[in-house]
Amino acid sequence: MTAPSVRLHPAGPLEAGVVAALQQACFPDDPWDEGSVATLTTPPAGFAVIALDAQEQPLGFVMARVAAEDAEILAIGVLPQARRGGIGRLLVEAAVTGSQNLGATALFLEVAEDNPEASSLYKASGFFSVGRRPGYYKRVDGRVAALVLRRDLDGA
Ligand SMILES: CC(C)(COP(=O)(O)OP(=O)(O)OC[C@H]1O[C@@H](n2cnc3c(N)ncnc32)[C@H](O)[C@@H]1OP(=O)(O)O)[C@@H](O)C(=O)NCCC(=O)NCCS
Repeated sequence: MTAPSVRLHPAGPLEAGVVAALQQACFPDDPWDEGSVATLTTPPAGFAVIALDAQEQPLGFVMARVAAEDAEILAIGVLPQARRGGIGRLLVEAAVTGSQNLGATALFLEVAEDNPEASSLYKASGFFSVGRRPGYYKRVDGRVAALVLRRDLDGA
């Protein structure tokens, strides 16, 4: 599916509250506060992009950081009612473009092994596995491993 009426908008530290609200809605078990989001997305190393609907209501977000040639998606999420409409894919591409603009040649992320939706999104977006971190994420009934994924950026 595509997301025709969705507009992507770069979110600076002044919009950290909007990004934090989206993060909290998408990750209720691991909410980040506005201050943490503002710190992580402060330019030039960090950035965030939000997806807005036709009424300018936020539907999703991505946060990333760049260190030299390596970039990392810190978090990405789409509100439950807006999922499966292509917004996640748009946000991944926004992270790719933003990372390239900051000089990165590779984009990394971690995804929990028990998150098939996100794993499918990343596979469909050109990421491949480069590592595994056992017990990386805490769950109510134990711990689950993270897969480390990489996507080579154009020109790499
Ligand atoms: C992962 C997430 C961001 C995907 O957002 P989305 O807007 O629903 O994704 P898209 O509609 O762009 O889907 C793109 C592709 O991802 C895969 N995908 C997404 N949701 C899926 C699902 N529920 N089941 C299977 N595949 C799925 C598909 O390959 C899909 O392509 P297709 O629609 O052509 O089949 C969203 O499910 C989410 O916010 N989850 C909670 C937060 C989270 O887990 N974030 C990632 C942490 S690493």
